[in-house]
Amino acid sequence: MSNTNDADQVNVSRRRMLVNTTTAMGAVGIVGAITPFVKSCTPSEKAKAASSPITQDISALKAGKMMVVEWQSKPIYIIRRTDEMLNNLALSNPKLRDASSNESNQPDYAKNVHRSRDPHLLVMVGVCTHLGCAPGFRPETNASLDANWTGGFLCPCHGSKYDLAGRVFDGSPAPLNMEIPKYNLIGNVLIIGEDA
Ligand code: FES
Repeated sequence: MSNTNDADQVNVSRRRMLVNTTTAMGAVGIVGAITPFVKSCTPSEKAKAASSPITQDISALKAGKMMVVEWQSKPIYIIRRTDEMLNNLALSNPKLRDASSNESNQPDYAKNVHRSRDPHLLVMVGVCTHLGCAPGFRPETNASLDANWTGGFLCPCHGSKYDLAGRVFDGSPAPLNMEIPKYNLIGNVLIIGEDA
């Protein structure tokens, strides 16, 4: 009788040991499985740098001209618009898909007719909202591409047209106005990617 009790006792101890060992091994397995996942989630220095704000001196940018910088692997168009360009924006309104930019991607301070903090300075992600090509800057008002053309952007891939605030014309394959990134402007220093 006593032998049976001893045997039971041994069996119970073995089972506990097995359960504990299995649990511990499972935990090691889970930690082992999670560790590479956590490692892969940690942004590399390169990714951090790519998503960081960039600063650009725009003092050399002349009226009516565009400069392009790269931010988050995207071209950022910076255009110093003339008074004439600003006046021409109103002429585009009846021909635009979303003249008030209600469906567009832009910060609140760019939700106005010129889509910018400073009316003369357009800062925009230069990526067509159709399939992602880079529209060309066509500031001229007598372009052969359209008798009523008053300046804007023309996408070379499928012909989407945008005005000088990046608002898309009706009839273009692009569904939305081009995106305005968050940015700050301090004098002639533009900070792209940060607007605090
Ligand atoms: S990508 Fe611009 S029109 Fe298609």
